[in-house]
Amino acid sequence: MADDKLDLQHPLELSAEAHSAALNFFNAAFRAEESGLRQAHELAERFQARDPALAETLRLYGDEEGWHRELLTEFLQWLGGGVKPMGRVTRTLYRLYGSAKAMNSIVLTNLMFETIGSTTYRLTLRRVRQPEFKRMLTVLTRDESFHVPLNVHFLREVMRDEGALSHLKLRALHRLLFYTLVLLPLASRPKAQAFDGIGRLELMRAYATHLAELSDELEDLGLSRPSWLLRALGAEARPATPVADVSAAERFADRNQVLVQEL
Ligand SMILES: [Fe+2]
Ligand SMILES: [Fe+2]
Repeated sequence: MADDKLDLQHPLELSAEAHSAALNFFNAAFRAEESGLRQAHELAERFQARDPALAETLRLYGDEEGWHRELLTEFLQWLGGGVKPMGRVTRTLYRLYGSAKAMNSIVLTNLMFETIGSTTYRLTLRRVRQPEFKRMLTVLTRDESFHVPLNVHFLREVMRDEGALSHLKLRALHRLLFYTLVLLPLASRPKAQAFDGIGRLELMRAYATHLAELSDELEDLGLSRPSWLLRALGAEARPATPVADVSAAERFADRNQVLVQEL
């Protein structure tokens, strides 16, 4: 997909307020790619001896995040703002994530970040009008949709030989991240809403819905939906077509077949 070009020809068509929010939005995306790249390559090294083929997959996956980071660097220049230092909430989140040492904690955290990332991109893609934004968000939505089932596979591989204590820790971390990420729109809305137009409750509900679908898929690892939270937010019920299983990975793997309408 490295031949994909952003084709940034036209000048920006945004109000001053939406422009500043767009810079926040795509800076957050840049940081997510940067962190995804680093963690994937670290995991690849740790997997090398145990499973070289899986290590290679992790490297390629990290390379794809690196390519996204390059595209976003170019895109931020077109936006006229470049890469900014991280804000307080973003810095705290990535510091926590960066401090995770156990492979299962890293993969679960990454998987849940990918889920909220692809959710935000998909919702935003439906609203933007200018072709330059559509193009950038199509690439991100398309690839992140594939990264979710890919990371589900990584997590199962990491958990394969783990004992009861490790499963218990995974469940606890899953709950903690679920609540934290569903609350994230409280911090992100004041910064990005003037660009993406997504309301606070709408985004919290969408995060809860998609994180819940992921929990369903990972029932075999003991993960489950926090029912009261989903009821309180009015999250959607289980989808008819799974989004995080092997069939989803196969559906999303041929990137040319992933149509914007299906996203
Ligand atoms: Fe990415
Ligand atoms: Fe990703």
